[in-house]
Amino acid sequence: MTKIKIAPSMLSANFGCLGEQAREATEAGADWLHLDVMDGHFVPNITFGPLVVAALLPYTVLPLDVHLMIEQPERYVDDFIRAGAAYITVQVEACPHLHRVIERIKEVKNVKAGVTLNPATPLVLLEEILPYVDLVLIMSVNPGFGGQSYIPTSTDKIRRLREMLDHAGSRAELQVDGGVKAENAAEVVRAGATCLVSGSGVFNKKASIAENIARIRQSIAAAQSQSQG
Ligand code: DX5
Ligand code: ZN
Repeated sequence: MTKIKIAPSMLSANFGCLGEQAREATEAGADWLHLDVMDGHFVPNITFGPLVVAALLPYTVLPLDVHLMIEQPERYVDDFIRAGAAYITVQVEACPHLHRVIERIKEVKNVKAGVTLNPATPLVLLEEILPYVDLVLIMSVNPGFGGQSYIPTSTDKIRRLREMLDHAGSRAELQVDGGVKAENAAEVVRAGATCLVSGSGVFNKKASIAENIARIRQSIAAAQSQSQG
């Protein structure tokens, strides 16, 4: 059975003690840490850059999954590689030379390359790049902010991407980002996701990081046992 990964988005963590929050998520059984980089141009919000990514390294053994919501990502991928990123995902909407950026990321040993699509960007834009990528991310909210609601039509898009990947024989991760929490994790997994990003579903005042991750894990297990039975 595929191990479904949980990648807490540090965007919803307490930035006043980001390292400690990364450590807590790691000890709570997260699989990756998702880091949302925003530039105030591609999206209307600004977060952090490679220095902050590098600063998290001493606090976790997990792969750092860097999601670049920035214009001209080719200018910065080397900095994020040096910062210790394990995955670097770029927005197809920001990359006229997508193949070149993906190849640059993959040139580096142990660094994997991902592409992502905004909610209104059609899957057909992936057709030519699919053989080159290690990860495809479906944005299930419009990027820019944590805590938004999952866009319901994303489920059908995930399903169609699952078919595309299987048809192409691709083993790329199918990651979903935006409004994913314990309540809808099963639906997202049943549609074919292999990695769930969750920000406000993991870092919130309702429960501890460990309790929230455990609830998402239960929801994933329920989806997987249904599909087996
Ligand atoms: C949205 C970011 C997401 C976000 C997810 O722009 O890419 O990673 O932090 O947060 P939630 O899970 O709260 O929607
Ligand atoms: Zn993200």
